[in-house]
Amino acid sequence: MIFYFSGTGNSKWIAEQLAEKTDDTAVDITTLNMAPELKDEKYVGLVFPVYAWAVPEPVRNFARQLAPNVGFAYGVCTCGAEAGLAMKQLNKIYPLQSSYSVVMPSNYIVGEDIEPQQTIRQKLKEAKQAVEQIADEITRHEPVNRVAEGGMAFLKSTLAGKGFDRFARTTKPFFAEDSCTGCGLCARICPSKTIRLAEGKPVWGETCYQCLACIHHCPQRAIQYGEKTKERGRYTIENYL
Ligand SMILES: Cc1cc2nc3c(=O)[nH]c(=O)nc-3n(C[C@H](O)[C@H](O)[C@H](O)COP(=O)(O)O)c2cc1C
Ligand code: SF4
Ligand code: SF4
Repeated sequence: MIFYFSGTGNSKWIAEQLAEKTDDTAVDITTLNMAPELKDEKYVGLVFPVYAWAVPEPVRNFARQLAPNVGFAYGVCTCGAEAGLAMKQLNKIYPLQSSYSVVMPSNYIVGEDIEPQQTIRQKLKEAKQAVEQIADEITRHEPVNRVAEGGMAFLKSTLAGKGFDRFARTTKPFFAEDSCTGCGLCARICPSKTIRLAEGKPVWGETCYQCLACIHHCPQRAIQYGEKTKERGRYTIENYL
């Protein structure tokens, strides 16, 4: 079984591709109340995006609940450029036989704009090849460690990773502009269930993963995170498949 977490579809797409190629099933961890008891699973896969060179909190929590050493265990993180020590961090929680990172289009529009169309398409093309290779290696139960950690990985993953959890996940800068139609999509897809509609407009609670699903999926582009995102593009993988 492949367990995934995904804000804008990159990790979901990888998980589903791997499921298809390894004759497995991909499951969104945010749809599960708790990690299922695993019996006779050939593979246990964990697929997720890197946040601040670290593993997102819901993935860490989920991995802690998983029974160890059932089937061939592997992890694939997706990242815009560098994974830092995210896979080493995950390995401490849940031991893996194989660890990978796959570079995908970056969705972190809180920090910078989305990439040019050509870059996005090129990254997706290369990711497709990477998935083929990963699927082959998994099928052969070949232990592999292919992770693009990048420079100063220790510093980034410890300092930035902790700082991200403590300070960057605030929902205070979120707001919806007047173009919001009150469709409720943002509330329905929020994995932390922190958005509710009040008088037809979204209101954010406190528990946020910063997955950016709400901001990227809003059909009106009405959601902003402070002023900077007004000038930035939106990304979901569905627009490129
Ligand atoms: C909060 C946040 C932090 C991120 N931090 C990193 C990072 O440290 N390194 C990196 O290369 N990409 C980073 N990214 C980019 C994502 O990891 C990347 O776009 C990922 O493929 C998104 O996956 P998803 O579509 O499954 O949500 C970050 C994205 C978000 C939303
Ligand atoms: S998805 Fe966008 S338009 Fe729909 S309720 Fe949320 S903010 Fe409004
Ligand atoms: S509020 Fe938005 S960014 Fe935060 S968890 Fe929900 S969908 Fe993700």
